[in-house]
Amino acid sequence: MAKPKVFVARKMAQEALDMIADATEMELWEDELPPPRDVLLKKVQDIDGLLSLLTDKVDAELMDAAPKLKVVSNMAVGFDNIDVPEATKHGIVVGNTPGVLTETTADFAWALIMATGRRVAEGDRWTRSGKWKTWGPMILQGHDIHHATLGIVGCGRIGLEIAKRARGFDMKVLYHDTIRRKPEEEKELGLEFIPKLHDLLSKADFVTVHVPLMAETRHLISTAEFAAMKPTAVFVNSSRGPVVDQKALYQALKSGQIFAAGLDVTEVEPIPMDDPLLTLDNIILAPHIASASVATRTKMATMAAANLIAGLKGEMPPNCVNPEVLQK
Ligand code: GLV
Repeated sequence: MAKPKVFVARKMAQEALDMIADATEMELWEDELPPPRDVLLKKVQDIDGLLSLLTDKVDAELMDAAPKLKVVSNMAVGFDNIDVPEATKHGIVVGNTPGVLTETTADFAWALIMATGRRVAEGDRWTRSGKWKTWGPMILQGHDIHHATLGIVGCGRIGLEIAKRARGFDMKVLYHDTIRRKPEEEKELGLEFIPKLHDLLSKADFVTVHVPLMAETRHLISTAEFAAMKPTAVFVNSSRGPVVDQKALYQALKSGQIFAAGLDVTEVEPIPMDDPLLTLDNIILAPHIASASVATRTKMATMAAANLIAGLKGEMPPNCVNPEVLQK
């Protein structure tokens, strides 16, 4: 029997590519940059499965152009690049890669919290540019992490790992979550639930965001939210760029309404080189790398491969975001 045809939208861990090549007739997009839209629209015409990344928009137009498509496996936990209701209508199962990146992403959010609070990137620029003339009592002062108050906005898997790590710094940890309160974790990790977002923002020294991107969370953090924060606040986002109104963030950083920010994600990715945020010293801008450890990216790729292969066989992918397609 002919093997199913799949398109893999980028090079990834060889282990995952070997799994896919064994089970399918695979075409691999080898460029560093994502396949351009017109190319992707052509490639999908004849495929049964697509391994997509968060840079590939999988919408109604693409699914209409792909009459044989049975499975879209996204190598990411977030799947805001995919129109899932539309996929369900088309009878296409969608897979994602939750769990394996939780701790790695939490580690990186912590890297941003610490580097931003203690001005690590700025210090590096300072040193390299020859500004380091002496040890100075007033030079590059930041804000303490230990014993400070951490505010977690969105306390799912990643948020909880952030909270665990905060215990080592003797922090007070507040969280706000609109999906569900977590009484057990509140006890176990000493978390305090704050029902109103603005109350959390006004109390926290460090604010870190871990919500998915949905209509309700687009620009969740905007002018009024920055205004609610302390002037000493450090703000970190490693969820999705559009959760934060970047123009409002620029104003808040420029005017000193908040102390500093660390972003792993931006509204447009990559951030355009003329974005005003790039002119500020009190922001760290990372290129969406929170899950980028060797081990985790390998696990994400093999998990995406397993989802793809199961979906092609008509089986439930181990991690499926619209199981109702196969349950019908
Ligand atoms: C990365 O941002 C992911 O959603 O996996």
